Formats: sequence, C-alpha cells, structure tokens
Amino acid sequence: MKNYAVSLAVAACAAAIWILLSTPDAGFDPQKVLARGRAITSRSWEFGTFTEALLEFYDRDLTVFGSDPFPRGRIPRVADPSKVEGLAYARSVIWTNGTDLLVDGEGSAADPASLGRAALLLSQYDGTYYEAAMRQADFLMKKATRFQVNVTHSAISHREEPPELWGDFIYMVPPFLAYYSVAVQEMRILETAVLQCQLYNAVLRTSISLDDGQTCHGLWRHIISEPAELEPGVCCSDPDVWLTSNAWAVAGMTRVLATILKWRPPPDSSIDRVQYDTFRSGSTAALKGIIDAMLQCTVKQRRDEKSGLLKNYLDGLSHRSAAWTYGDAAGTALMASAAYRLAVLLPEVYGVPSFLDWAEQNRRAVAKHVSHDGRVSPVADVGHVPSKNPVNQTSEGQSMAILMYSAWRDCMAAGVCRRNVRLWDTISTWW
Ligand SMILES: *[C@@H]1O[C@H](CO)[C@@H](O)[C@H](O)[C@H]1NC(C)=O
Ligand SMILES: *[C@@H]1O[C@H](CO)[C@@H](O)[C@H](O)[C@H]1NC(C)=O
Ligand SMILES: *[C@@H]1O[C@H](CO)[C@@H](O)[C@H](O)[C@H]1NC(C)=O
Repeated sequence: MKNYAVSLAVAACAAAIWILLSTPDAGFDPQKVLARGRAITSRSWEFGTFTEALLEFYDRDLTVFGSDPFPRGRIPRVADPSKVEGLAYARSVIWTNGTDLLVDGEGSAADPASLGRAALLLSQYDGTYYEAAMRQADFLMKKATRFQVNVTHSAISHREEPPELWGDFIYMVPPFLAYYSVAVQEMRILETAVLQCQLYNAVLRTSISLDDGQTCHGLWRHIISEPAELEPGVCCSDPDVWLTSNAWAVAGMTRVLATILKWRPPPDSSIDRVQYDTFRSGSTAALKGIIDAMLQCTVKQRRDEKSGLLKNYLDGLSHRSAAWTYGDAAGTALMASAAYRLAVLLPEVYGVPSFLDWAEQNRRAVAKHVSHDGRVSPVADVGHVPSKNPVNQTSEGQSMAILMYSAWRDCMAAGVCRRNVRLWDTISTWW
C-alpha cells in the first residue's frame, strides 16, 4: 500500500514536470498556420506583418517584447541574418535599389514601413538596408501627404492622395519610427511616433452603442479622408468601427509603448536623461489612455454568438454596419495578442484575471477557427472597403494568429498568464 502511494506521488510529480516543460498547446498548430501564411503573402503590409510574426515566433529577443531588446541602449546586432527566419524572409522582399519606400506600397507610403524594423536589423550586416530604412523614414517624415488635423498639427497620411487616416497606419509606421529613433539615437523621431498616435486618435475616435443601449467612447473609425466623403470609386472610405483596424492600432501602440518603456538612451548618447524620463512618463500615460479607452469598449461590446469571436464591425446593433457584421478570427487574434503583450509589459494594470480571461476567450475562439491545414477563418476581407463578407483566409489573418500564439506563450513564460492545461487531456494522450 505504501509503495503504491509512493509510485502514485512519483507519477504525479513526473506528470507535473512534464506538463511544465512541454510546449504549451494553444489549440492549433502554429507551424501549419505559418506555412499557409507564407504561401499567400504578397502585399507590402502583409510582408511586414508576416516578418514581425516570424520574428516574434522564432526570435523574441529581436523584438521589443524581448527581455533585453536594446542591449547597451542600441538595437541588437545580428551576426548572420540567414539564421533568423524573419530576416531571411524580409531580405527576400525588401527593395534596396534606391526607391523611396521599402517595397511597392500600391499607393500607400505607410504600408511598406511595416518592413522597416527588419531593414534596421539587417542594416548592421549590410549597410544598403540602412540606406533603405532611412529613405523610408525620411519619406514619411518629410515628403508624404499630410492630413491637416487642426491649425497647428498635421498627421502623416496613410495613403498618397487624397489624405486618408486609417487605424491600420498605427501598426505600420509608429513602431518603425520608434525603432528607427533608437537606431539613430534621435529622440525627435520617437516623439513623432507618439504624436502620430495622438493625432490619429483625435481624428478617428468615436462612440459605439453597446447591446444594453449604453454608449462607449474610445474606439476608432476605420478610415477618415479629406474630403470626408470621397467620390464613388475613389479608394477608400469607411467611417465605421472596424475590428481589424482597431486591433492594428492597439497592437501598434503596444509596440511603441514597449519601445519607450524598455529603451534607456546609452550614457554616450546626446539625449538628456532627465528629458527622456519626462518624455517617457508623459508618453506612457498618453498611449495608455488611448489604449485603455479602445480596449474597454472592445471588451464591453458583445461577441458574435455563433462563433464566439469578436465582431468584424463594433458599432452596435442599431448601426448600419450591423447588416454586414460577423465573427472575425483575424481581428480577434490581433486584439488578443496585444492583450497578452500588455499584460506582461504592465502587469499591475493589465495582468488582472478579468482582462486575461477575456484574452483567453479570444484565444480559444480563434483556436476553434483554425482548420487542420492551418487556415484561419472566417476572416475580414481585406480586398474590399468596407469589408462586408468574410473570406476563408488572408495573409494578415495567418500572421495575427501567430502574433497571438507568441504573445500567449511569452505571457505564460513570464508567469503572468497561468498554464491552464487540463491534466487529464494530457495524461490520456500518453496511453
Ligand atoms: C527596384 O527593384 C524592384 C524589384 O526588383 C523593381 O520592381 C523596381 O522597378 C526597381 N526600382 C528601381 C527604381 O530601380
Ligand atoms: C491640435 O491637435 C493636437 C492633438 O490632439 C493637440 O495637441 C493640439 O493642441 C491641437 N492644436 C490646436 C491649436 O487645437
Ligand atoms: C476559399 O475561397 C476561395 C475563393 O473565394 C475558393 O476558391 C476556395 O475554394 C475556398 N476554399 C475553401 C477550403 O473553402
């Protein structure tokens, strides 16, 4: 009897250790999702987002979510980019032949900037990538079309003509400018990155109606252009609250926030430490304020009942967009990814059970919408604005599921998210 109890205890310990050391199961196979994503990625922002997904999946320390993303206050050195999946991929798509932008943006100067961080990581290995990143940053800051916000301020337009502000911009440009700022050790560019988020917020922020009839203020309209009403056939106009663009914005600001929180200008830099610390606390509060308002309304809005996913448009039942609303796995995944990242960055604010539970509900709903061959669907159709019908796969949807996977894995590794494994499911697979 005694021996039996001892064996049982040993088996239980072994099981516990095995569970702790094994790769956590997100409910889907990330390798299949990546393989599918690689096969269908072809446009500028898709290249950049897929690159970021690869970097976060394989080489966290080369992202702003690593434990020491800026060794000695600088961007990390990469000795051999061919050994880094994300950089090997980025090298195959970035243009280094003297163009203003890192790749053809199909009318957007902003989307190619999504490859900018990879170009900077490649730059220490090959200087032509530094030149390319610099041309992209200069173009955005000095030559790109501007959207006049008020008498003193203008925002960088997401597209060339007419001036248009898209929430999507926030994932493509500010994280690149923030990283560029560290690469060239210039605070002014980091300030620009934060200011763009504030200007976009000032223009795009709106109210939604929740199912209980209350209104919630904080989420963003998808696209506002100048003039506000575009002629038919002119790309693009979408004044409603699209989940994916709100997720781009929250996730983009989270990356900027991580950059600011983790960067310490090195002692030999010309940046004044006191000035930096003042900027750091001011911009952290500003970004957190915008992110909080956006997340609060997203959390409060009801999910799509059938799928358990967040809705493609969040305006509410009484709004016209309700006619074309469905559960969207892509936007849901990117929102969840930002939630896990925020929980690790600022655990006292976002590492709370109610918020983590919400992230977990999103993750589980997304996992149920990954097919056996790694296809994430239904997802918003990025080929149409507004996006009225779901499609069965998009490149960004594949990347967003990977961003969610990596953020969830890192949240558990940080001890902020709990390993919620069902012991019996695991043990039963042994026999
Ligand atoms: C640069 O390279 C790209 C891709 O090879 C090509 O499409 C583009 O026309 C080139 N641009 C210039 C200015 O050479
Ligand atoms: C213009 O908008 C920015 C961002 O909201 C704000 O900081 C600035 O004070 C505004 N300027 C004027 C003159 O209203
Ligand atoms: C996915 O959609 C495409 C185009 O709409 C269609 O051709 C294809 O058959 C669909 N695939 C699946 C597995 O539903």
